[in-house]
Amino acid sequence: MGFDRKYLICALGYVVLGMGVGVYMGASGNHRQLVAHAHILLVGFVVSFIYAIIHKLWLERPGKGIAQVQFVLHQVAAVVMFLGLLLLYGGVLTETTLGPILGASSMGVLAAALLMIYMVLKSGALKS
Ligand code: HEM
Ligand code: HEM
Repeated sequence: MGFDRKYLICALGYVVLGMGVGVYMGASGNHRQLVAHAHILLVGFVVSFIYAIIHKLWLERPGKGIAQVQFVLHQVAAVVMFLGLLLLYGGVLTETTLGPILGASSMGVLAAALLMIYMVLKSGALKS
């Protein structure tokens, strides 16, 4: 399966999870999970969907190894970030415990974005 489809499937999974948290907040009147909700939808759904489109439109033959590393890095870092945010805003664990985990996952999401930029530059897609 191509990385465009893999990203599309993940994006559609995150939209269900993120909207689920949104519906829960709306129904309960407890908006404490706002930050988790926003980032599941933005880092999860929106960014994964954009990566799917980039793969589909501009990365016909990305280096398989680097594309795999980029995909796994974004997904693992994103899932760790979402779990961390849900536990933090759910009041299950403290910021002292979760701080390093959230910091590391943020770095992972950022590093995956830099890898995606590298793949786009290497593909020549930005040359006219
Ligand atoms: C079933 C659909 C959705 C429901 C029920 C829902 C519900 C909510 C609720 C209750 C809040 C908290 C509002 C507040 O306390 O200020 C919120 C905030 C937010 N939602 Fe959603 N949402 C939905 C879909 C989405 C989608 C699709 C996105 C983005 C792709 C999104 C992005 C955000 C963002 C960024 C915030 C934070 C806004 C701020 O900083 O004040 N939501 N949402
Ligand atoms: C490495 C990735 C990211 C990190 C570490 C990060 C971090 C943060 C932090 C610390 C806040 C403030 C939360 C608070 O109010 O306490 C925030 C808010 C926000 N971020 Fe991000 N962010 C990331 C990626 C993104 C992306 C990719 C988007 C959009 C596509 C985004 C959209 C927003 C929005 C709309 C808010 C305001 C809503 C809210 O308070 O949750 N973020 N982010």
